[in-house]
Amino acid sequence: MINGSTKLTCLIGRPVEHSFSPSIHNCLFEKYNINSKYMCFDVDKEDLNDAVDAIKALKMNGANVTVPHKVDIINYLDDIDINAKLIGAVNTIKNDNGRLIGYNTDGVGFVNSVIRKGYKIQDKNIMIIGAGGAARSIAVEIANNNAKSIEIRNRTLNKAESISNIIKENFKSIVKTGDINITKEDLANIDILINTTSLGMSPNIYQNPIDETIKVDKDILVCDIVYNPKETRFLKWAKDNDLDTLGGIDMLINQGLEAFYIWIGVRPEREDLSEVEELRF
Ligand code: ATR
Repeated sequence: MINGSTKLTCLIGRPVEHSFSPSIHNCLFEKYNINSKYMCFDVDKEDLNDAVDAIKALKMNGANVTVPHKVDIINYLDDIDINAKLIGAVNTIKNDNGRLIGYNTDGVGFVNSVIRKGYKIQDKNIMIIGAGGAARSIAVEIANNNAKSIEIRNRTLNKAESISNIIKENFKSIVKTGDINITKEDLANIDILINTTSLGMSPNIYQNPIDETIKVDKDILVCDIVYNPKETRFLKWAKDNDLDTLGGIDMLINQGLEAFYIWIGVRPEREDLSEVEELRF
């Protein structure tokens, strides 16, 4: 029930109407008996400063931020978490008694998905396909979790190199870059392979970032951040090779669980969201 003490948490983006975040957070607020509601606001670029001021003025718990505001929002916040600063993008804001602090839970969401599946990041050799915003947040977070090596493969090499430089300057992981044409030999020492490109995303469901004729005869955890369709061609290729897989919905849900923890201080379970997940996916 909404009453005089109900707090607001919101999403700032454009467009926002297809977001899964209201389902995640309204379900969690109810499960954990927290008197708060989550709403989405379609915000124009020129209104971003006013929207941030509203988080303070209306004493909201905080907010999520999505495309196209994840980078620009940094200019309006009081403090930025160290990893969000390295990533250069914020997707979660905590209102800490009037001070707005920016975080990025995309990479943490990915790392938690891997850990909850029973795998480790530490000392692993990890290959990331793609070098956009999602790749950047994943690369920083897996380096932060002491991956042994990170290889970034992208169509546009200088974008891979830009992420590589951030990792080299701030973390101990070995970093390599390369083009997007991945061979069987390239996978020989890889433990975890992640697609962060949009290849395979609906409506382009027949695209695949990897050559489907490659046969793999070692254990690799194969992850795709694309969640529509649920089983991409990339994941199908992995399953055909008897490899373990992690789909994009896991990362989507885990970034939400982490944002909830930042606002509320309670660590929810993935299972708390089983019903809403089934309804949506
Ligand atoms: P996000 O924030 O979701 O990571 P993004 O920043 O637009 O989105 O990044 C998209 C990624 O998908 C990039 O790595 C992009 O490659 P380029 O850097 O070369 O543009 C990759 N990508 C998109 N379409 C692609 C295609 N047809 N072939 C290869 N890579 C593609």
